[in-house]
Formats: sequence, structure tokens, C-alpha cells
Amino acid sequence: KKRVVSGVQPTGMVHLGNYLGAIKNWVALQDLYETYFFIVDLHAITLPHDAAELSKSTRSTAAIYLACGIDSSKASIFVQSHVRAHVELMWLLSSSTPIGWLNRMIQFKEKSRKAGDENVGVALLTYPVLMASDILLYQSDLVPVGEDQTQHLELTREIAERVNNLYGGRKWKKLGGRGGSLFKVPEALIPPAGARVMSLTDGLSKMSKSAPSDQSRINLLDPKDVIVNKIKRCKTDSLPGLEFDNPERPECRNLLSIYQIITGKTKEEVVIECQNMNWGTFKTTLTDALIEHLQPIQARYEEIMSDQSYLDNVLLEGAEKASEVADITLNNVYQAMGFLRR
Ligand code: TYM
Repeated sequence: KKRVVSGVQPTGMVHLGNYLGAIKNWVALQDLYETYFFIVDLHAITLPHDAAELSKSTRSTAAIYLACGIDSSKASIFVQSHVRAHVELMWLLSSSTPIGWLNRMIQFKEKSRKAGDENVGVALLTYPVLMASDILLYQSDLVPVGEDQTQHLELTREIAERVNNLYGGRKWKKLGGRGGSLFKVPEALIPPAGARVMSLTDGLSKMSKSAPSDQSRINLLDPKDVIVNKIKRCKTDSLPGLEFDNPERPECRNLLSIYQIITGKTKEEVVIECQNMNWGTFKTTLTDALIEHLQPIQARYEEIMSDQSYLDNVLLEGAEKASEVADITLNNVYQAMGFLRR
């Protein structure tokens, strides 16, 4: 079976971008592949974080995975820091990752520019190496993510190839190893729709957890009245009718796409249904569809959160299964790099 891995950071609220770009697509994959879905808590400390909040949002994010339909009898669901191999492999990989490759990462450039050099920990720079470790440990074939992660995925592939060349194959065999590649070179799986959900207040910027205004995003756990209010106040335009493909109307494209995915309709069906609507009618239609889609998720979330021992158990089992697989890769890399094993 092919392997699939992916994760979400437990910072702030999980929003519609995380859901449509990533989590929602994981659900179908768990029936076809061997899947590993983790909560990347170690990534959540790359910017200043609230220690009292971290464990809470880690639990909450895990509960959201389950509420969205990730099934612990099919997928391994776990917390990244519970599987030590992630940090260990990261160190080994970082010795073969040129600083120049990391300096080029767009997310690093953007985030460090905002915070200023003296306020940025080195983890913000080396973060993509940890992400590579998350992926390569499981010999993953596919990594279902939103479009903003493509550069990190490309870096992961480059690191995998470089380490394979430096330490794999015949050299590894000479040291008593199996020979061949140390890592499978993974591919990103970007959804055809939903890969880049845009802000509600600006159709040209991405919906994000770090945007200061909560009005710019729909959080998965937003109550009904909040959703009504956010859609009522979201940015639109004054052109007649609604259309997907007019580059002058990014908000229109974004809201129609959200409506399309959330209802499971085709683009053509949405065009026929909505092209002659005015904004007022469409906003009501979209709001109703969002509430209808999110309410069952929210109900399941409450149920899961009310039974902490169930959740703990899922995470414990997930970490155990993941560790077994991860340790095989980690031990191979130690061996191929020439470490003395105890
Ligand atoms: P994070 O936590 O920022 O986002 C989690 C997932 O949500 C997707 N996403 C979006 N998709 C569509 N539209 C948006 N506006 C939007 N915003 C976020 C992201 O692409 C991502 O798939 N580095 C990663 C987490 C990570 C990871 C990994 C992912 C760490 N290790 C290994 C896959 C495999 C991150 O910060 O995602």
C-alpha cells in the first residue's frame, strides 16, 4: 500500500482553508492508502507561542481531525512530539541541507521580515527540515496539502535525493545496510479545488490563522451566528451576476469555489445555479450551505472533546504505530551515516 502523510499546526483555530485545502481531502485517502495524520506541535513553536495554550490546541486539533471523519481504525492519528524520531531525523537531515536552500523559502522570508531578525528563532529557518523529516520518516508516496506548501514539498524532495546520493546505495551496503534508497521521494497532492482558499476580507490574500482580523476567515468551530455575520460582512463587488473566471473578481471566484466544494456540486452546476444571483441571495445560500456542512462536524467535535480518555487513547495508539515505522527509517539513516549503534 502506498503511504500518505500530512499534518496541521495546532496554532489558533483550524479554518476553512485548512479544511478544504487539507483535512477534508484526507478522509477519502484513508480508505485507499496507509495514512499517517499528525498534529505538528513542534512546528507551532517556530514563532512565539503561548505555552498554556499549546496542549489545549493540540488536543482540539486532534478532535477536529476525528470530527471531520478521520478514522483511527484506518489512519494513524498522533502528535508529532510523541514520536521522537521526527526531531532526531531532522538533525541528521540538517547536516545535508544547505542554508541557501532554507533562505529561499518564501514562508521564512515573509515571516522573518514581519518579525525582524532579532526576534526570529533559528527554528523558523530550519522548520522546513523538520517538515522533511515528518514526511521522509514514513517513506511517504503522497503528501496532501494546500498550495502554500508546494515549496516545502519541493525542498523535501531535494533533501531526500541529496541524502540518498550521499549515504544510500552501495555506500550504505558496505556499512551492512540493505543498499538502495534511504528515502522514497514523495509527491505533493494538491486538490483541484480548495488548494488556496482566500480571505473573506481580501480576495487576493490567503485565508490564514495569523491574519489579525477574525473576520477574514471562517473557523471550523465558529457558531452559527458568527458564520452568518462573517459572510454578511465579507468583501464583494458591485458587478452584476456572479462568475468564477473573471480575474477582476477574486472575491467572487473564492466564494463560489467555497460554495462548490462545500456542497459537492460541479463547477457547471454552480454556474447555472448562481450566475444570475445577486450578492444578497448568494450570501444567504452560501451561509446556509456552510452551516449545514459544519454543524455535524461541530456536534461530533463536542462529543469527542467530552471523552478525553478516548482521545488520549487514539493519540497513544497512533504514536505507537507511527513510532514503529519511523524507527526503521531512522535506524537506517544512523547506520548509513556511520553512527556507532549501542
Ligand atoms: P499549516 O498548519 O499552515 O496548514 C495546514 C494545511 O492547511 C493548508 N492551508 C490551506 N489550504 C488552502 N487554502 C488556505 N488558505 C490554506 N491555509 C492553509 C496547508 O497547505 C496545509 O496543508 N508546514 C505545514 C504543516 C506540516 C506538514 C508536515 C504538512 C508540518 N509537517 C508534513 C504535511 C506534511 C503547515 O504549517 O501547515
